[in-house]
Amino acid sequence: MYADRIKHLPPYLFAAIDKAKQEARAKGVDVIDLSVGDPDLPTPAHIIDALDKAARDTSNHQYPSYEGKLTFRTAVASWYKETFGVDLDPQKEVLALIGSKEGIAHAPLAFINPGDLALVPDPAYPVYRTAVSFAGGVPVVMPLLKENRFLPDLDAIDPATARKAKLIFLNYPNNPTAASADRAFFKKLIDFARENEIIVMHDNPYSEVYYDGQRSMSIFEVEGAKDVAVEFHSLSKTYNMTGWRIGAVVGNPEVVAGIGKIKSNIDSGTFGAVQDAGIAAMKSPESVVDEIRKVYQHRIDVLYRALKDMGMQLEKPRATLYLWAYVGGSSIEYAKRLLDETGIVATPGVGFGQYGEGYVRFSITQPTERIEAAVDRLEKMGK
Ligand SMILES: Cc1ncc(COP(=O)(O)O)c(C=O)c1O
Repeated sequence: MYADRIKHLPPYLFAAIDKAKQEARAKGVDVIDLSVGDPDLPTPAHIIDALDKAARDTSNHQYPSYEGKLTFRTAVASWYKETFGVDLDPQKEVLALIGSKEGIAHAPLAFINPGDLALVPDPAYPVYRTAVSFAGGVPVVMPLLKENRFLPDLDAIDPATARKAKLIFLNYPNNPTAASADRAFFKKLIDFARENEIIVMHDNPYSEVYYDGQRSMSIFEVEGAKDVAVEFHSLSKTYNMTGWRIGAVVGNPEVVAGIGKIKSNIDSGTFGAVQDAGIAAMKSPESVVDEIRKVYQHRIDVLYRALKDMGMQLEKPRATLYLWAYVGGSSIEYAKRLLDETGIVATPGVGFGQYGEGYVRFSITQPTERIEAAVDRLEKMGK
């Protein structure tokens, strides 16, 4: 019945842990689920108020424009200018998305012909690889290894493969490894892409979830990036808006136009009222995101300390909602043992790709008191 593209999807590696989670709950275990990256905090009230007002505006009741309202795209451009000092033309270099996942999943359809190669990281957000496969392309894995600070080793990519590749997906600050990329890496990436005529698709939903005052970069802070790259951005994590489905892709105008062409044949844009609320979000006073960051900072500090004290190997992240801890051996077995002994659910690294084996990912998107309860349990387990 099913097409090969879904028959050949990789097996659902989280199934085992989901089953174990359900069984634990059925036994009455007070499960603390640190496996999902979905902010627990509510969307700030002024954004909800903006939606309320915009939903009553009858001009929002008809089909939205394919590319997003110019007011929304202008707000994205202004946000980029204020946040990263980057200039974008809202007319040609910004496209509204129904969440960044939607844009990522559709983008390869605009550039990949059957059999074309695309470079994808491993471990990674799984959508890059499936999106390439759905477009008929062949994903070529770039391992993200600890010894390379979880950055792909661009020099290790076979030159013939690099020349043939049509696009490369990357994501820093990174899910799941919590690594960040520096300017030198982005510079090297842009040179590599230019030399090999590869489109860079940089996925950047975690830029604002940073710690210890160490802000994250946009790829467009590096000169020449717009010649080769687009960046996916999302309001999901910055403003606790995962349920609202709103994001944008920005950068190279030809690439943006290609994604727009695909989308105009698939969807009919993002609800205008959600775009208006998105504008209100991006115009929030700095204190709004500072407050959210403060909450995450505390959670990451306490959970990092607890895992470190247990003897796990991990780095304190500069950004993201995650801790990526090396546990050795089978990550599924470790996650099961952790659940049995503490009632805590973490994501086995192998679920993000073969190079994630040996690691588990802890997320901090549970209420602070639950994170603190998890820390207590981990301390007891460690003794
Ligand atoms: C790396 C990465 N990219 C994209 C997304 C999707 O975000 P959105 O809510 O904008 O679709 C996520 C969500 O978890 C993510 O981790």
